[in-house]
Amino acid sequence: MRIKPHRGFESLPLRQIGNFEPMKNMNILVIGSGGREHALAWKLKQSPRVKKIFTAPGNPGTAELGENISVDISDHQAIIECVKKKEINLVVVGPDDALALGIVNSLQGEKIKVFGPTKEAAEIEWSKSFAKDLLERLNIPTAKSKTFTDIEKAKEYIRDHEYPLVIKACGLALGKGVVIAQTQEEAEQALEEMMTQKTFGAAGETVIIEEFLQGEEISTHAFCDGETAVMFPSAQDHKRIFDNDKGPNTGGMGTIAPVPGVSKNVLDQIKQEIVMPILQELKRMGRPFKGVLFPGIMLTKEGPKVLEFNVRFGDPETQSYMRILKTDLVEILLACVEGKLSSTQIEWESKSACCVVLASPGYPGKYPKGLPITGIAKAENIDDVVVFHAGTKSEDGKIVTNGGRVFGVSASGSSLDGARQKAYKVVELVNFEGKQFRKDIN
Ligand code: AMP
Ligand code: GLY
Repeated sequence: MRIKPHRGFESLPLRQIGNFEPMKNMNILVIGSGGREHALAWKLKQSPRVKKIFTAPGNPGTAELGENISVDISDHQAIIECVKKKEINLVVVGPDDALALGIVNSLQGEKIKVFGPTKEAAEIEWSKSFAKDLLERLNIPTAKSKTFTDIEKAKEYIRDHEYPLVIKACGLALGKGVVIAQTQEEAEQALEEMMTQKTFGAAGETVIIEEFLQGEEISTHAFCDGETAVMFPSAQDHKRIFDNDKGPNTGGMGTIAPVPGVSKNVLDQIKQEIVMPILQELKRMGRPFKGVLFPGIMLTKEGPKVLEFNVRFGDPETQSYMRILKTDLVEILLACVEGKLSSTQIEWESKSACCVVLASPGYPGKYPKGLPITGIAKAENIDDVVVFHAGTKSEDGKIVTNGGRVFGVSASGSSLDGARQKAYKVVELVNFEGKQFRKDIN
């Protein structure tokens, strides 16, 4: 892959933060292998502070930016050894399951600089019942809900309810553990699948049943250093597999940022009423939150309400965000890790980004792997567009499909419409059998 000069996207020059001498010649390790990690590595690589980017395990896209390290990311000892051997100065953790397994705790235990929350701070994502308790305690607007561990009691509860009703697995389920049940029958089926058949393993042993919220859904992100939060522009994901929000939920089929019509006032309100109370409470509980806090929000008639918390960069939100972030990402991540966010200026381009995901045939259900891909080199020649790899692998020197979401085609432009048009032009260039994508990412 060719690394293009991105006009207007150069990182801002280094700044001194107080007496803090900026670290240079840094080796950075990104943990993960998806489109989000490719986008993070792509942006980090632009920093004048960076010597080399490592990604573990990475994908063919990240391999082009530096070195992929083939290591089991749940093996913390192996990661620690590799950090020491490669003289890595900062580790950036992408995926939620790695955070839930306490990779940050393990690295911090070895005095390794790492961006991301500890396992305890990350509980707000890996346990929806923990998050719901916190929201209720702090009086933060969210859907009314009840938590169940006994299927009979859950079935009794859904009997006299208005529909739709939302059934959620309590634990991590790749964004697929939520069912919007239109009828009691569908709700019972979801309970059976989660609690009896254990489709999501232990993640579904506890379920949350909650009120269906109506409105426009947005993704909000905040850089956090334990005390201070700085909001990103708004973003919007498109979670269902088919156009017009039809079909089952996926990990996310495409994003835009910023979202037209979401004002700075709304983001300020989300910061003051949601993000800051959560940061303060987690700190009070002895679990200070450092990393990216990503509340999924429904903009309802009564105002913004929390759908869920994520404790990491969104995927594919990041594939849009990294196209419009102006400030050096290394500087921001270090400020979060070192508790210096309040003295860090974060700037975004006054542009828009649009990322369209190309998915394997059958996704989010079963899908084949190993399908040959054509057109990548051509696509990489188009100005203002970056093709982020996700579920791809290199086989005998050729790139083939290797996952559900295969690429994120990510464009920037002075208007959202312009970005969107560029992204869709490139979507047509990259091909594999049965390629799925949504035509309405806007
Ligand atoms: P979650 O993982 O909790 O964000 O849920 C996944 C998706 O399900 C969300 O992004 C929403 O699109 C939808 N969803 C979750 N909870 C609700 C709710 N209470 N009302 C309406 N839609 C919801
Ligand atoms: N795009 C939604 C997520 O990252 O959870």
